[in-house]
Amino acid sequence: MRSFSSKLAAIAPSATIEITDKARRLQASGVDVISLSIGEPDFPTPAHITAACIDALNRGETHYAPGKGIPSLLSAISEKIEAENGFSCTNDQVIVTCGAKDAIYEACEAVLNPGDEAVILDPSWVSYEPCIQIAGGTPVHHPLHKKTFQVEDSLLEKINNKTRMIIVNSPSNPSGSVLNRESLRLVSDICQDHDLVALSDEIYEKLVYGQIHFSLAMFPGMVDRTITINGFSKAYAMTGWRLGYAVAPKEILGYMNKVQQHTISHPTTFAMFGAVAALKGPQQCISEMRNEFERRREFVLNRLMDMGIGYAPAEGAFYAYLKVDGDDASIANRWLEEAHVAVTPGVAFNTPGWIRLSYAASMDTLAEAMNRIEKVV
Ligand SMILES: Cc1ncc(COP(=O)(O)O)c(C=O)c1O
Repeated sequence: MRSFSSKLAAIAPSATIEITDKARRLQASGVDVISLSIGEPDFPTPAHITAACIDALNRGETHYAPGKGIPSLLSAISEKIEAENGFSCTNDQVIVTCGAKDAIYEACEAVLNPGDEAVILDPSWVSYEPCIQIAGGTPVHHPLHKKTFQVEDSLLEKINNKTRMIIVNSPSNPSGSVLNRESLRLVSDICQDHDLVALSDEIYEKLVYGQIHFSLAMFPGMVDRTITINGFSKAYAMTGWRLGYAVAPKEILGYMNKVQQHTISHPTTFAMFGAVAALKGPQQCISEMRNEFERRREFVLNRLMDMGIGYAPAEGAFYAYLKVDGDDASIANRWLEEAHVAVTPGVAFNTPGWIRLSYAASMDTLAEAMNRIEKVV
């Protein structure tokens, strides 16, 4: 048989797969493996959100919906943006997608032509590069500062006449660091000086500790060239609902909508009613989950400090990014084999020499995991 898509053949398999598979095999053989490699809140979706979805199902909201999402959700998102993110948008600048990941993919398809370059700041989340590649673009990696995890002037060296887009992610998966105002201003200046689009992935915006989250689109001149990505997975513990959204300039949004119309049509109709309840209902659930993450964060960072393990500025999300001496993949493998704790090697995020540890697990689990890690380091 002839070979299949060369575009997809060129995409490297996820560097996390090997360790995840190994953790699964160990678990299946009866070993008590603690997984700190997960990227999802361990809380249930708040009850008022699931209730709104069940109501919608019972009302018969089980048919096709408008392609960009139900109007009440588009309005709830525009109102949220205006109230919380320091810029404003109309409903026709909003699209609801199947998770933030889908919004990122659609954005890459909407902006990039074959050969266009999109700059990714490392350490970077695993799916930016494949989304760019699937859209026919060329990913160009640039490191954040090794200690502060902020953007440096050297970013300019990666910009040329093929560059079309810069992707920023704050708070960051995997490092947990938060981009400060100066970093975002630098990105904003470069985008405006070189006529670039910015994709700002703000999915962890609600999980910030002792820092302030700034939206890139609030910087003067940026609203017309920024695609803001957000969603419900992390803030409302709704990972399985597959609901995210993008706010973008109308022309880009229109192109994203074309991708959506001809691929997924729209996210699940009744699930979107749950998302309306998430945005319009009580927000206390967010602060409760955030406060619990903060408590775990303190605990984990203190234990790491006691063990003499350094880490990136852990200012947001639910990850600690540990600096390790030696090959991160071998170290993660050793922790799995000897301590039965699964973590993700930094090579998966284009930064060898680091390990990502998710503290989206109960205090008891974290305490046991830290004891086990302490024994092997
Ligand atoms: C930085 C970042 N962006 C986007 C996503 C995708 O989120 P969703 O579940 O809404 O697709 C994730 C999920 O892990 C993430 O960590």
